[in-house]
Amino acid sequence: MRALIVLAHPEKQSFNAHLAEKARQAWLERGHQAVIIDLYEENFDPREGSWHYQARKDFGKFDPMQEQRHHWQLNQLPTEIERHVQLLFQADALIIQFPFWWFSAPAILKGWMDRVFVYGGLYKSAMRHANGAMQGKRALLASTAGSSMQACAPNGRDGDMRLMLWPIMYALHYVGFDVLEPHLIHGVRGGLAADEALQQQDQLIQRVLEYQKKLACWQDWPLVRFNQDEDFTEEQVLRQGAPVYSPFVRHTDWT
Ligand SMILES: Cc1cc2nc3c(=O)[nH]c(=O)nc-3n(C[C@H](O)[C@H](O)[C@H](O)COP(=O)(O)O)c2cc1C
Repeated sequence: MRALIVLAHPEKQSFNAHLAEKARQAWLERGHQAVIIDLYEENFDPREGSWHYQARKDFGKFDPMQEQRHHWQLNQLPTEIERHVQLLFQADALIIQFPFWWFSAPAILKGWMDRVFVYGGLYKSAMRHANGAMQGKRALLASTAGSSMQACAPNGRDGDMRLMLWPIMYALHYVGFDVLEPHLIHGVRGGLAADEALQQQDQLIQRVLEYQKKLACWQDWPLVRFNQDEDFTEEQVLRQGAPVYSPFVRHTDWT
C-alpha cells in the first residue's frame, strides 16, 4: 500500500510536521510506502489563476473549470499539479495533516484542493461520489486545535469541530474517496511559557503514540457516512425518509 501525506504547516519543527513524519514512519514500519508533500516547503501557490496555464483555450476570459479540463485533456497541467495528481492516483491512502485555523484549514490547503482536484480529470458530472476518480482509496483528515476537546464538541463553546471539517470531507467524498472519521487532537496550544510547553509536550507524546496505534489499524478505522445519489430526487433534493448523516444535508420543515 502507498500513503500520500499532505502537510499544510509553515514550520518544520511544528507538532503538525512531527505528526506527518510519525505517520510516514508508521506506514514504512508496516512495509508500506509513504510520501509527504510539504506544501509550504514546496512553496505551493494556493491561488488558482490564469498565469498557471500555458495553452489557454480562451485567452480572452479565464474560466478555471474550462482551463483545468482543457489542460488535463492536452496533458499539459502545471508541473506541480501534474506531480500531485500522479501521486494521488498512485496512492491507496491520503492523509491530510493540518492545524485548525479560524475554524477551518489553512488557506494553502484549500488552494491545494482548488488546483489539484482538476475538473475533467478528478471529477465531472459523470464521475463523482461513488464513481469518482479516487474510488477505492481512503482519505483521512488529521488536525490539531488549540481549544480543548470540550470546547470543540457539538455542545462546546467553539462549536463542533468535526462538523466544521465536513465541507472538506465532502469534497474528498465528491472526488470518490472513502473518508475516514477525522483524527482530531485538541488542546495543542501555541505561545506557551517554557514550563507550560514542557507539560504540554508530555501530553502530546501520548497523543502521538495513540495516533500511531490507530494508523496501524487503518482498515478498521470508521468511515464517515454520506448520502448516496439515490437518496436525492432529480432536483437534487433529499427524498422524504432518506437518512440524514449531517446537519449540512437534512430534511426541512417544508419538504
Ligand atoms: C491563524 C491561526 C488560527 C487559529 N485558529 C484556531 C481555531 O479556530 N480554533 C482552535 O482551536 N485553534 C486555533 N488556532 C490554534 C492552532 O490550531 C494551534 O496552534 C495548532 O493546532 C498547534 O499546532 P502546531 O504546534 O503544529 O502549530 C489557530 C492558530 C493560528 C495560528
